[in-house]
Amino acid sequence: MTKEKILKSLHKTYMNIYKPIGFNEDDYNRFMSKIEQAKLNRKKALKIRDRRKKDWYQSEKMVGMTLYVDLFSNNIKGLIKKIPYFKSLGITFIHLMPLLKPREGNNDGGYAVEDYRDINPNLGSLDDFKLLVEKMHDANINIAIDFVINHTAKEHEWAKKAAEGDPFYQNMYMMYDSDEIPNQFNETVPEVLPDIYPGNFTYYESFKKYVFKSFSEFQWDLNFRNPIVLEEILDIFFFLANLGVDVIRLDAIPFIWKELGTTCRNLPKVHEFMHLFYLAKDYVCPSVVILGEAIVEPHEIVRYFGTNEKPECQLMYNANMMVNLWNALATRDQRLLSIDNQRFVLPHHGTWINYVRCHDDIGWGLNEDALKSMGFDPFKHKQFLINFYNGTYIDSFAKGENYQFNARTQDARTNGTFASLAGLEKAIQQSDTFGIEESIKRIDLLNTYMFSMPGFPLIYSGDEVAMLNDYSHHMDTSKLDGRWLHRPNFPWDKEKEFNNSHTPSGKVYNHIKTLISIRKKEKLFNNKVEQRVIDSKHNHIYVGYKTNLENSLLLIYNFSENHQILNLNHLRAQGLQGIYTDLFQKKKIDLQKDQLNLYPYEYLWLKQS
Ligand code: GLC
Repeated sequence: MTKEKILKSLHKTYMNIYKPIGFNEDDYNRFMSKIEQAKLNRKKALKIRDRRKKDWYQSEKMVGMTLYVDLFSNNIKGLIKKIPYFKSLGITFIHLMPLLKPREGNNDGGYAVEDYRDINPNLGSLDDFKLLVEKMHDANINIAIDFVINHTAKEHEWAKKAAEGDPFYQNMYMMYDSDEIPNQFNETVPEVLPDIYPGNFTYYESFKKYVFKSFSEFQWDLNFRNPIVLEEILDIFFFLANLGVDVIRLDAIPFIWKELGTTCRNLPKVHEFMHLFYLAKDYVCPSVVILGEAIVEPHEIVRYFGTNEKPECQLMYNANMMVNLWNALATRDQRLLSIDNQRFVLPHHGTWINYVRCHDDIGWGLNEDALKSMGFDPFKHKQFLINFYNGTYIDSFAKGENYQFNARTQDARTNGTFASLAGLEKAIQQSDTFGIEESIKRIDLLNTYMFSMPGFPLIYSGDEVAMLNDYSHHMDTSKLDGRWLHRPNFPWDKEKEFNNSHTPSGKVYNHIKTLISIRKKEKLFNNKVEQRVIDSKHNHIYVGYKTNLENSLLLIYNFSENHQILNLNHLRAQGLQGIYTDLFQKKKIDLQKDQLNLYPYEYLWLKQS
């Protein structure tokens, strides 16, 4: 986009948001002067970085990892020392979980920020962070950090001044004198944490106000109707960008705009804001990428990419695929993956971040229409998944826990590490050697699938070495939230096992290493190359196809623990033919044959030779 075009669109988008609620050119000019200042502040070295290819994040070389600095390496200095670990694995993107200064005590894993312009003192200083960015860039690793824009901690200076009664700061939050409006909101706004922090408001006797809070009591929602809030938030955005980070993860974006009579999620204005963020960053720091965090219904998630004409986020979490993968593992039925993987076409700038597990729970948001068309009752199916993964279902291999269980609706989400949910923990406890092997096959299958899907893979630190659930958090009063089950300390004491292919962690680690090295060499994994889903006419077998006209890749996954037979007629009927070689085992497959026999949980990346 040209400079003139960006400026024109910025003006238009700003006015779309603020004109209807009474703001004018003066407000816009104040907003723009902050943006111009941020542009002036951008250092020369970063301007050079801005010149890299615009689509750098769409490369097949992108392999990501998410980690908590304290759990992984105690602090930032420790993390710098661990760079060789990432290099030896081949990681090129690291998402650091919240590391800006949080409130003390319970802070939702850092998502309750007290000061956005400082680093959590337990992790280090701003200078440590700058050094980290430099060292990571030297190692060709891109850095993503979290920016919580929906709420601040109630200890943030704005919040403290608001609580002291200053109306200027009270207007930065959503505060009400009586329960009249809160009650109206409560009629339509669902609760995020009904179990630990029910309701959407907290009443504070000390300053006699009802305060909007979507999450915990100590996380106060910001009031984006006030243009000063947007200015401040963008100012911090550029402060972070100018520290040299490559990707900024905007947390909980669906919640930032509220309107009475709605669910206050995914409202049209949120999309105007995301477009505004995109334009502003394109103007100031074009190589910085916006990652949106919106764990909502699949058709809503995809809208956060915007369109080719009106771009929003460049990266979004593929939550739908993640849920479908766990569904496929429990049911041995891949059909939802096949259906959903061809449901949406993304704009050119849009890229999925594919993942199997992350620091959050698994919310069972499946494509209900597809489920119904397959003859399942969505409610009963969800109950099955909840019970399968909390381990109470009779034939379950999983060990997980319910999260935010609602006794009235029987609804729940699921906690647990990748390995424990995939059966490794139970098998180890039962000294079940075959069970251990089978669970490793499940882990390898899911990782392989994730690595081959359009977008790029994101490993949740610890999953590459098959970490099991951590029950010790039950004893820690600052870790009451059930999600700590899958947030253990990284097991450096077992580092020797990582390279020992006779141990479960060594097996999983080795496979991840293989996946990374194959993926990075294979241009067909570039995000620009589309993937077509091939109808395998087989509930257990997923088939995907990628081609750039020169070469083709056929991706085959057996989601069951039994041998399966794929009728190759169906592939030929959809235009596929020839001889392919598997990139893992080097075995050759001729599509002229009648059938392909697949081993339990077998995966194949077949390249046409
Ligand atoms: C996001 C984070 C989650 C956090 C919430 C509130 O969903 O991933 O961990 O609790 O935002 O900030």
